[in-house]
Amino acid sequence: MPTIRFVREGRDVKCRSGENLRQVALREGLELYGFKGTLGNCGGCGQCITCFISVEGDKDGSLSPVTDVEKIKLKNRPQNWRLACQCVVKSSVVILTKPQSPPANSGNLIKGALDEDLPK
Ligand code: FES
Repeated sequence: MPTIRFVREGRDVKCRSGENLRQVALREGLELYGFKGTLGNCGGCGQCITCFISVEGDKDGSLSPVTDVEKIKLKNRPQNWRLACQCVVKSSVVILTKPQSPPANSGNLIKGALDEDLPK
């Protein structure tokens, strides 16, 4: 079972391989959305561009490949950003929710999250 390490929240969440990242986060009560997305989001269709996450560390292949929707919607965003609703979890991964407003100590939080081994 993959583990998703949510850096901001300080939580490791197990999920089934093939689960949608947005659905896992919502099921676990984790807040994916900033103000705009909280007021209204597309429900996971890849249209509102409010469910940003960043993938931390070198984890190519942990999530499904970038979708055509993401290629368009994220073209001016950092390369490690994804839309949670477009991501299928394949193996363990470290992510930061709401990377557009990172916590003040995000560098240390990310480093700490990457330094600690993920459960296999
Ligand atoms: S929920 Fe709207 S783009 Fe992801």
